[in-house]
Amino acid sequence: MKPAARLLRWYRVHGRILPWRQTRDPYKILVSEIMLQQTQVERVKVFYRNWLKEFGSWKKLAAASNADVIIAWAGLGYNRRALALRDIARQVVEQGVPTTEEDWQSLKGIGPYTAAALSAFAQQKRTLPIDTNIRRVLGRYYFGKTFPDLKDDIRIRRKTESFLPKRGHYYDVPQAIFDLATMICTKAPDCARCPLKSDCKAASKFLSGNVKIPKRSTPKPNERKHRDKRYPDRIYRGRILKVVRVSVRVDSKKLGALIDPHFDAMLDYKWVENMIDRLVKDGMIKRTKNTLSL
Ligand code: ADE
Repeated sequence: MKPAARLLRWYRVHGRILPWRQTRDPYKILVSEIMLQQTQVERVKVFYRNWLKEFGSWKKLAAASNADVIIAWAGLGYNRRALALRDIARQVVEQGVPTTEEDWQSLKGIGPYTAAALSAFAQQKRTLPIDTNIRRVLGRYYFGKTFPDLKDDIRIRRKTESFLPKRGHYYDVPQAIFDLATMICTKAPDCARCPLKSDCKAASKFLSGNVKIPKRSTPKPNERKHRDKRYPDRIYRGRILKVVRVSVRVDSKKLGALIDPHFDAMLDYKWVENMIDRLVKDGMIKRTKNTLSL
């Protein structure tokens, strides 16, 4: 049996029931895909349902203000995703819903992964969206690379032609890979239970017990950190946004101490100012003199 067929047989028994698997509406699928970038499935479930209650369509979301979406996104993190999603909705309302992978990618805010996901999950197209899950599973299966990275995507893409069935299951196959990647083909995989183990090029390596599992995944390459701060700036920007959201109006001079217990007026003032500037520039908050608001 071909690998995709073995995978689908496994998926019919073990696949997860997830709210965004009950729809083929491109809007709802885009919402789920944007939320699933950098946020875990369990957390996304609740936010996904609430978001759709408030913004049920392209049109509803397109009409939302920055403050509306920042408030609705609260708690998910990586807040720029909220504005990016709204901006995509505005483009779709203006230009119509794209029907090809290429046209999806021509929208600002949609990259190759999301364009492929929309094509496969909402529009029955024969394409494979390569994310970290799919990269890990197929990089191991085809090339025996125990921890595949971005550089492997080109050769993985070349293999999708033979991995995907000739007809149909363009939705199920990637979804099944997501589940395999979460349940079996994890960082330290459980190859003994895997439906692909008989011809996976990495299975024997892992089953030998000789593969060293890295402790933590590689640190995010482009995250900025200020001097000896505990977290990357992203976390403190999130805190600034939260303070502004909750307090409605905030004196920018008092912000430092509110977001960082170790705030040092001399060493950190400029750092906080720069983070505020960035949030203003990104359209997340407004500044009038020393007062910040959404
Ligand atoms: N990761 C990205 N898209 C996903 C999906 N649709 N289901 C589960 N995990 C995912």
